[in-house]
Amino acid sequence: MRSGPFTVGLLGMGTVGSAFAQLLPERAAHIAGLTGREPALGGILTRERGSFPEILESSELIVELIGGIDPAREYVLEALRAGRHVITANKLLLSEHGEELFQAAREHGVQLRFEAAVAGVVPVVRVLEESLAGTHIERIHGIVNGTTNFILTEMARGSSYAEALSDAQRKGFAEADPSDDVSGRDAAAKMAILARLAFGTPVRLDQVRYEGIEHLHGDDLQYARELGLGLKLIGTAERRDGGLSVRVHPAFLYAGHPLASVAGPFNAVTVESEAITEITMSGPGAGGRQTASAVLGDMVSAMLPPATPPAPVKRLELVEDFESAFYLHMEVADRPGVLAAVTQVLGEQGVSIKSVVQRGMGEHARLVMVTHAVVESSLRTAVARVARFDFMRSAPRTIRVIEEEFL
Ligand SMILES: NC(=O)c1ccc[n+]([C@@H]2O[C@H](COP(=O)([O-])OP(=O)(O)OC[C@H]3O[C@@H](n4cnc5c(N)ncnc54)[C@H](OP(=O)(O)O)[C@@H]3O)[C@@H](O)[C@H]2O)c1
Repeated sequence: MRSGPFTVGLLGMGTVGSAFAQLLPERAAHIAGLTGREPALGGILTRERGSFPEILESSELIVELIGGIDPAREYVLEALRAGRHVITANKLLLSEHGEELFQAAREHGVQLRFEAAVAGVVPVVRVLEESLAGTHIERIHGIVNGTTNFILTEMARGSSYAEALSDAQRKGFAEADPSDDVSGRDAAAKMAILARLAFGTPVRLDQVRYEGIEHLHGDDLQYARELGLGLKLIGTAERRDGGLSVRVHPAFLYAGHPLASVAGPFNAVTVESEAITEITMSGPGAGGRQTASAVLGDMVSAMLPPATPPAPVKRLELVEDFESAFYLHMEVADRPGVLAAVTQVLGEQGVSIKSVVQRGMGEHARLVMVTHAVVESSLRTAVARVARFDFMRSAPRTIRVIEEEFL
């Protein structure tokens, strides 16, 4: 074993990088007790400061906290090819170029660790890689974006979408440009990474279907309450029809679901398997110091031999059309026969209704239904037919409902 300090090259000195640079010396003596070597920063790179070749040369491990694809991808690849372990929090990079990077790590016998890239501080990567390595996982549901969970929590308390978003920005939970969060793209990148871990099959961001929360209305949340449901932005990766479905969309949850009570900027991931029933992990979804502590944990793992090479991949087909329960929201003319006409069309497409709330609003009425599980394409056909009725006053809205409760 080498002696002397374990030198760490830090790329990026923003929110997470500067917290890491502060945490490392605070925890260095403790880490020396665990690993036999005391870690120390060997160099720092920002746009203004440092030279990557010099930092690489002098470091045993590289921490990438720049974010984005370029130049993070080249730096990470170069470091792996030079035989350095790499720790990253970069979900975008892993969800777009993961295979290339994991292959480089395998070829050069080094570790590429990324606990902080998914679900913030919640140690879901390690649990999937190690504790559940022998488990046949059926499904993962996650609230993996704290910004949107904060906004939905505030909307459930009565705020409008715009009020909740600006509150999130004021409190530092949302960026000035929140589009990656509210569109579901950030959550989709994290679900691609989780799907790869849970099912051993490569999934890229562009293969994940995602919808965000921008089009949700306050009254969706209000009606959900009346129906005993909560509304969350849910990422799902699950085995379906011999293949795999990976997606992100708003979904209603019954109160008994472990994710239903996850509020504010928190993240949580539920792993389901026949052998374990269900395990839910939750914790802070972001934050400089919190994320840096997950990076530090990865660093300690990389310092401890033996290094486990990333597992080889197998391929599963991605499935798009499958059964789910749905919430349907319709604004209709308040006249006799409307409910009968809607339910007849739904019935003809095999959509059966579990519950209905109807409310008169002068000349209009709101009709809110929850269906039993139905194949999505049948539901979409039925909704397209319903949308053509002359009594419809606005386009019908649909949101999936997750029915499992684990009570
Ligand atoms: N913030 C969080 O709570 C959080 C949580 C989980 C994961 N993450 C992930 O952690 C990573 C870092 O996030 P962050 O919030 O710390 O980002 P950030 O505050 O924007 O910091 C980025 C850092 O990278 C540097 N940088 C940018 N372009 C560079 C270039 N071309 N060459 C060298 N350095 C460059 C910046 O330097 P300058 O100062 O010179 O511009 C800055 O120091 C991202 O992948 C993010 O997704 C963040």
